Amino acid sequence: MFLAAAALVAAGCRQDMHDTPRYEAYEASATFADGRASRGAPTGTVARGWLREDEALYTGKVAGELVDQFPFAIAHADLMRGQQRFNIYCTPCHGKLGDGHGMVVQRGLRQAASYHQDRLREEKAGYFFDVITNGFGAMQGYAEQVPVRDRWLIVAYVRALQLSQHASVNDVPADKRGELDASAAETPSASTEKPVAAAPAAEKH
Ligand code: HEC
Repeated sequence: MFLAAAALVAAGCRQDMHDTPRYEAYEASATFADGRASRGAPTGTVARGWLREDEALYTGKVAGELVDQFPFAIAHADLMRGQQRFNIYCTPCHGKLGDGHGMVVQRGLRQAASYHQDRLREEKAGYFFDVITNGFGAMQGYAEQVPVRDRWLIVAYVRALQLSQHASVNDVPADKRGELDASAAETPSASTEKPVAAAPAAEKH
């Protein structure tokens, strides 16, 4: 009996500690003029890791104008990662070629845009970054899923896809043109897979 009473008293003391005055999230408070206990960050402060001074990098624009220049140099390994990210995030709708015939489109979802149309070929790199970041029409933005740098790598790969379907012999370095002819002669039927030979097919889109 004594033990039980002692335990109760002890528990009572502990409870006092648990009831330390504090505000719950979104609770009202008379302390501040706006009546809210939760305070916003003071004006002009930036949370660690959120300083976004490089406008081109984070928005694809400079002074509101879309940029065509990538905000950092794209190496071959970057392009490979761009391809991988593209295949994960974009192919379900846009297809591996970027022609808009991804699997979910084949299964009846809304037609996604083909990148192989003049308007999009002429769009600046920053435009694609903006579409990936903020979405476009029926397409949602991918800012939540795809980090900034990866978005640019995807843009680089979209550019590579565009070129793959729309290039002329002049786009091939002079010392490599011989290789094109050689492989075309070897396998004439596979010639449509060569970037140069595929250009006419791309006009259909
Ligand atoms: C769930 C399907 C879906 C996915 C995934 C998707 N898109 Fe789209 N995308 C669309 C649709 C649909 C449109 C056409 C939207 C419209 O016209 O309203 C579109 C349009 C576009 C356009 C053309 C905008 C214009 O000016 O016409 C670009 C560029 C684009 N998407 C890039 C991407 C990239 C890059 C990814 C991957 C990060 C991606 N999309 C992922 C469905 C998708």
